[in-house]
Amino acid sequence: MSNVAVIGAQWGDEGKGKIVDLFTLDADIVVRFQGGNNAGHTLVVDGRKTVLHLIPSGALHKKKLCVIGNGVVVDPEVLLEEIRGLRADGHLLDESLLKISEEAHLIMPYHKAIDQARERLRGKGKIGTTGRGIGPAYEDKVARTGIRFVDLLDGATFRDKLRRNIEEKNIYLKAILKEKALDYGAIYETYSGFRAELERYVTNTGVLLDREIKAGKKVLFEGAQGTLLDVDHGTYPYVTSSNTVIGGVLTGAGIGPRSIHQVIGLSKAYTTRVGSGPFPTELKDAEGERLKQEGDEFGATTGRPRRCGWFDAVGVRHAVRINGMTGIALTKLDVLTGFKRIKICTAYKSGGEVHHDFPASVKVLKNAEPVWEEMEGWEEPLSSARSLADLPKNARRYVRRLEEIIGCEMILVSIGPGREETIMLKNPFNA
Ligand code: GDP
Ligand code: IMO
Ligand code: MG
Repeated sequence: MSNVAVIGAQWGDEGKGKIVDLFTLDADIVVRFQGGNNAGHTLVVDGRKTVLHLIPSGALHKKKLCVIGNGVVVDPEVLLEEIRGLRADGHLLDESLLKISEEAHLIMPYHKAIDQARERLRGKGKIGTTGRGIGPAYEDKVARTGIRFVDLLDGATFRDKLRRNIEEKNIYLKAILKEKALDYGAIYETYSGFRAELERYVTNTGVLLDREIKAGKKVLFEGAQGTLLDVDHGTYPYVTSSNTVIGGVLTGAGIGPRSIHQVIGLSKAYTTRVGSGPFPTELKDAEGERLKQEGDEFGATTGRPRRCGWFDAVGVRHAVRINGMTGIALTKLDVLTGFKRIKICTAYKSGGEVHHDFPASVKVLKNAEPVWEEMEGWEEPLSSARSLADLPKNARRYVRRLEEIIGCEMILVSIGPGREETIMLKNPFNA
């Protein structure tokens, strides 16, 4: 028996969608446990691209149960759009294959309005959020004023909570953010419509997972964002508002630690970041531009260009440690084809000190100068490789060197967006 968690080891967009879709072949259930529709997970199956924001990336497989756990913040409008899109493509036709936790919090129109207005007011100091209301929704959860699915399902509770929230948010929107007030009646009507459409999916997912795990079902936990965007362990305050790391699986799915057997870290063979915040290995030159073009590095949610740079072993080592990773899946190695020399950052120099561990201070990170190790590149395209032996010698050496520097075993190397463009070294479900 083996349950597997897939966690981003960088600043997101490491290819979680592709790998979760692939691993779903061996799983029975796929669970999202945090984040919301700030995530954009891309799956390419038989040459066709699907981008998922809320529904677990197992949805393209028949007969796999998809669970949205209590730790997720759900924008019902986006979820319904996603359900409709998948059904139009012939997926998720069996409604019993999607379950939403009754404890998951709802993203409300005021969350989006507040997120976007705050970013506008921050100007140059903005976080670069996705504007989807994620931060304000998690704030309300912690403030104990949030609205959950269980509240939406009970008309009287929903009305009461919505009224109290709107009163307070409208004062904040008008007086502090200089925005227009929102209309209680319109929101009540819209969300009552969402209730009618979503009620059938809502259940106690913690109890469901416990039962299925006890019955020997294999569960795949799908992270969103990445460790360096974690609200505790990332580049705070340039982070998202949830725990993206392994601890988030326990709280966000409502399971115990003994239900997770393998923790797979996802990392690109280089580094990207969307939005503001420190990025020590960022390349602002032709090489960075080349990574962006060759890697097609444009956000799957907002379409923003991603900032690109060399592999940052300090950041990935941090992720390996915090998550207790048992293996790494390395993606987008194919993008490095044609670079004469490839660099790896092994430590940072900042303020006269050498940092081998990821610094907490944004100031230290902003001033960090990478300590580089250089390796020779390769010219050959990689996407037809199906074993490490099929890779050019220098690509193989690069993979092995990364493994040494980050101190974690490579279990998979991805060499293209398609399901088949994969070198599987160890199946985590059989580990
Ligand atoms: P996620 O958020 O971690 O699921 O990643 P995204 O889907 O936002 O971004 C990853 C992008 O890289 C997507 O466009 C994928 O189709 C693509 N991708 C994934 N693995 C590979 C790979 O090995 N090589 C290439 N060239 N593209 C890949
Ligand atoms: P996936 O799951 C990359 C970034 C935003 C911003 C910061 C805070 O596709 O890897 P938020 O809207 O969450 O309050 O924004 O986090 N961010 C992501 N970057 N991939 C993501 O998701 C992201 N989700 C949020 O760009 O810098
Ligand atoms: Mg993404």
